[in-house]
Amino acid sequence: MTWNPELYNQFKAERSQPFYDLVNLIEPRPNLKVIDLGSGTGELTSTLVSVLPGCSVLGIDTSKEMLAKAEIFSNSQVRFEFGSQENLAGQWDLIISNAALQWSDNHSNLFPKIFEHLNENGQLVIQIPSNHNSRFHQVIREVSQLEPFSTRLGGYTRTSPVLTIEEYTDLFYHLKARDLLVFEKIYPHVLSDVDQVIQWLSGTALLPYLDRLGELKQEFVESIRSSLHQSNPEKPLFYPFKRLFISAKK
Ligand SMILES: C[S@@+](CC[C@H](N)C(=O)[O-])C[C@H]1O[C@@H](n2cnc3c(N)ncnc32)[C@H](O)[C@@H]1O
Repeated sequence: MTWNPELYNQFKAERSQPFYDLVNLIEPRPNLKVIDLGSGTGELTSTLVSVLPGCSVLGIDTSKEMLAKAEIFSNSQVRFEFGSQENLAGQWDLIISNAALQWSDNHSNLFPKIFEHLNENGQLVIQIPSNHNSRFHQVIREVSQLEPFSTRLGGYTRTSPVLTIEEYTDLFYHLKARDLLVFEKIYPHVLSDVDQVIQWLSGTALLPYLDRLGELKQEFVESIRSSLHQSNPEKPLFYPFKRLFISAKK
């Protein structure tokens, strides 16, 4: 999937707050060996050194565009490399992942695999968007099923792999996680109008569709825009965004 760091950064403040909320769940200990799964532009990853004394941090990502941006945040404590969260290697004291694991399928298999890579007393902290049933995402799915998009997409519609908080709680209970914390939080964003929502979605949720649509991209975005305009005429526009947090220790 082709990421555009500039587009993604357009809502930097709104996208950064959940990361800081996630960091607040970390039990700080000195000299932690840390990995950030799906580290993106690396800017948030690099802030971990200021809250975790003596830590060494590796950020992994599968996007060349994101890794190129992250390079400026490398230093003696922080480095970035190409790598998939689906094939994690090594043992870690802290595994953190902010807004990335929703791009990988089958969490019932993947999350236990990730948990195995924690050292004894290690901690896993995860934040993933859980707003896939919002009216904005429903419109994307509806438009993707209309022609000519459906044929070009070969019937593809993105289904979210994100489980419920009850399912994650059960999953980590059976992994014998300690100090388990699982909750959802709604961020009450207010955007100027539907055009801003489209900008937001273009940096993330629309990407798998745009990658597959070729010259139909613009027409697809315009169809979503017009559908959203009809159902959301308010200005400014309330854009509540639900996110799911997990903290589990070994
Ligand atoms: C929404 S961005 C979040 C970036 C960063 N964690 C942040 O909070 O700013 C999601 C990132 O996950 C990365 N990603 C998606 N699938 C991945 C995978 N299988 N392994 C590693 N990174 C992945 C994308 O390339 C992208 O950089």
